[in-house]
Amino acid sequence: MKTITDQEIQIIKDLHNKYVIKGPFNEAFTDLIWTHSMIVADIAEQIANDLIKQHNITVDLDLLSTGALLHDIGAYQTFDASLHPTTDYIQHGVLGYKILISEGYEEKIARFAQCHTGVGLTKDNIHINHLPLPEEDLIPITLEEELVCYADNFHTKSPTFCEYDKIESDLKKSHEENSARLSYMVRKFGIPDLREIKKKYATWHMKVNALKEKYADQLASL
Ligand SMILES: [Fe+2]
Repeated sequence: MKTITDQEIQIIKDLHNKYVIKGPFNEAFTDLIWTHSMIVADIAEQIANDLIKQHNITVDLDLLSTGALLHDIGAYQTFDASLHPTTDYIQHGVLGYKILISEGYEEKIARFAQCHTGVGLTKDNIHINHLPLPEEDLIPITLEEELVCYADNFHTKSPTFCEYDKIESDLKKSHEENSARLSYMVRKFGIPDLREIKKKYATWHMKVNALKEKYADQLASL
């Protein structure tokens, strides 16, 4: 359950609509990124509520939901019209940061976009892998940023949910430092129980996957 109002959610959704690539599938595309963001928000909120219950700690739930719903706002610019990620996809976090700052959002909100890729990208990782990104640490710092970054690993824009073992093996391939960062996060947050969230979005996943199948030829030829 989000603590931000429906009106606040609608304002964020309108921003998604503003940045979607215009084309025959723009509605489906916004739906994909938007619902993925809602799912990430649900996962992050579930982990946060467990932390609050178990340890009586403070989490800014408004900030958490807002950050989760905006973290992928830069993704629209890094997909082609066939809804496939381009080579610029790695830049969607920094692009999102620029969009959010230009739209008047505070640094503490814009940072959710900037630092959510994988388990965060270190300066070393960016340098060694020659990533087309500024050579600086793009890593989550606040608890809320860490929660969104961690939660984002459990759902892809394919769209599908991911199991922890798969996340771990994929992250290991990209940079050894990632395993340590993921271990730190799983010790801190645990592995979320996704059963209820999977049920909640089961019909949506079936709808999107049926659409992808139905328009497979058109999507491939765009
Ligand atoms: Fe995401």
